[in-house]
Amino acid sequence: MKIETVTLNDGVKIPVYGFGTYQIPADGSTYKAVREALDLGVRHIDTAVAYFNEQEVGQAIRESGIPRENIFLTSKLWLQDYGYEAAQKGIEASLRKLKLDYMDLYLIHQPYGDVPGAWKAMEEAKAAGKIRSIGVSNMTPKIWNNFVPQFATIPSVNQIEFNPYCQQKKIRKIMEEAGVRLEGWGPLGQGNKAMLADPIIKEIAKIHNKDAAQIILRFELQEGAIIFPKSTNPERIKSNMEIFDFILNDEEMNKIRMLDTGRGCHDPNAPGVAEFLINAFDVHADEK
Ligand code: A2P
Repeated sequence: MKIETVTLNDGVKIPVYGFGTYQIPADGSTYKAVREALDLGVRHIDTAVAYFNEQEVGQAIRESGIPRENIFLTSKLWLQDYGYEAAQKGIEASLRKLKLDYMDLYLIHQPYGDVPGAWKAMEEAKAAGKIRSIGVSNMTPKIWNNFVPQFATIPSVNQIEFNPYCQQKKIRKIMEEAGVRLEGWGPLGQGNKAMLADPIIKEIAKIHNKDAAQIILRFELQEGAIIFPKSTNPERIKSNMEIFDFILNDEEMNKIRMLDTGRGCHDPNAPGVAEFLINAFDVHADEK
């Protein structure tokens, strides 16, 4: 299965389909899952400091036998590493844990606190060749308008919750005007049963001889998203990739566009979210 790539606003090419490692434990499972994804032909791996599995992701990439330049690796800076100096150290810590010379993409994982300071450190790391592309995550229009005008470099991506029930139309319009790519997390609504059984999606699935998940993922790709569906089931890991051999027509796309509820499972603007996330855990607890 040939996975397509797109070019980001800084000229960096990224495969539109990746393997996400959120909630995969670092007990050997992450190593195994990443090796399996690479064996299946995936060349884009998404991790984060806050997933606590960068070591195993790096090891899997290094031991895969695939040339480093053929794999696209994303990681993300966590809240305790925001501010200019902390971010400089955070970037070095990611590279150290991954045991890699560079990361392809590095994101501001949650948009709270001294984001502009962290961004400056990321811009410098990019200039120094430690990161090829820099982006943000979980930015709503309100958060975007608060931070992005302060940045010298426009982000290459905004990684946000995205699926047919949560289409993020307002922020996507802002991003489109700024030339910023959508990366969608939760592309299957984190296993949203209602969405996977939606009559409109099932009807379209029947026409294409595909399953509901494949229709959902294909819709997202055609909307311009870069996606990382998650599954622990080997058959679904494979079938979720089989979305490059058919096309949804305009009528089908429009029908799915109508399914938007305007809401997702995470509202980054909700009161208390920043405090909750910063207090949820400390990514450096084991170093203290
Ligand atoms: P499982 O691991 O049993 O396959 P998301 O990528 O939006 O976070 O969603 C992940 C969830 O969706 C997981 O619970 C996963 O369960 C489920 N899932 C993944 N692929 C499929 C599929 N093809 N059909 C139904 N559920 C799926």
